[in-house]
Amino acid sequence: MIAARGLIARGAELTVEEFHLDPPGDGEIEVEIGAAGVCHSDLSMVNGTLAPSFPLVLGHEAAGTVVAVGADVDRMRAGDRVVLNWAPPCRACWHCTHGEPWLCETAGAPSTPRGALPDGTPLHVTLGLGALATRVVIPARAAVPVPGELSFADAALLGCAVLTGFGAIRNTAGVRSGESVAVIGLGGVGLSVVGAARAAGARPIVAVDVSPEKEKLALAAGATDFLVSDGTLSRALRGLTGGRGADVVVECVGRAATIRAAYRGARRGGRVVVVGMGARSDIVELSALELFHSGRTLRGCVYGTADFDVEIPRLAAAVLDGSLDLRPLVTHHATLDDAPAAFARMSRGEGARTVITP
Ligand code: APR
Ligand code: ZN
Repeated sequence: MIAARGLIARGAELTVEEFHLDPPGDGEIEVEIGAAGVCHSDLSMVNGTLAPSFPLVLGHEAAGTVVAVGADVDRMRAGDRVVLNWAPPCRACWHCTHGEPWLCETAGAPSTPRGALPDGTPLHVTLGLGALATRVVIPARAAVPVPGELSFADAALLGCAVLTGFGAIRNTAGVRSGESVAVIGLGGVGLSVVGAARAAGARPIVAVDVSPEKEKLALAAGATDFLVSDGTLSRALRGLTGGRGADVVVECVGRAATIRAAYRGARRGGRVVVVGMGARSDIVELSALELFHSGRTLRGCVYGTADFDVEIPRLAAAVLDGSLDLRPLVTHHATLDDAPAAFARMSRGEGARTVITP
């Protein structure tokens, strides 16, 4: 048995506890976590937005070092630095064999049974990972090797916020140079979308949040303008985009109200991308006539509409050659023991990414 320590949720209550994992079986690896980001999807596991099974080890945005491999693992060895994938494709289902591995039918369950507490209580792990912990045991296909020179913090962020943000701009929206982009919700994910829009040559890049404190972070990430989200948003957006609305609006909150604001903020013929992961019961109302007449496209973005195994090495190379700077995404560093405070900050809408070093 492998001894580990991690951030465990029983509903809203978060505690750092010891637990056990079984050693890696066929096709599995054991990873010592080097860094893990706190993402809103982890908060959504514990605040009622999603309905996972408890007790649950939180965390799904992480990187670490392979310390042991089970039988039949040939894509990595002990000592490799890896980024973890919270939706590893099976490469065999209909979506995987039709060029849509991000929609793999076997991936993405909020909680998976794995390991146990000292008293024998079975544990669950978030999105098959449970990475706000010292160790994970995962399928080898849920990790991709990256160069050892990439810092654990940068590697961790690639695994959720960065892949999602860059994928939303490049793959889901297909932003071209000179297009106008608006981004609603400026946490780690939204700030990554802003950075990707700048890299794509978008202009203007209008960043939107309820919290005026996000202006500084957004401008540092590459936004050209900042708007506080309120009832006048679509008018203010039109004012910055030739009276039409933005070519592309990316929603990074995960609420019906902001999805609707994103929709209203796009120009006729514009593209609206929903990155935020909302609740099943939160219903978006749209006018049937407006949907037809506006000619807009409304598209969901799961994990950046990307093939993780292809895009992560590319993003890692961009960080190492200096063309991708992830510093604007990170506002706090902390240890596992301080992770509950990071969740509290996130529920208050403060800061962006906290990177946890176990
Ligand atoms: N209008 C504009 N911004 C809002 C609103 C609103 N009505 N409500 C919240 N926000 C802002 C918050 O102030 C915060 O800056 O949205 C931002 C969300 O940031 P984080 O909580 O850090 O979330 P993040 O990790 O970036 O994830 C964003 O993407 O992957 C999904 O599940 C994730 O739905 C979540 C979204
Ligand atoms: Zn995430």
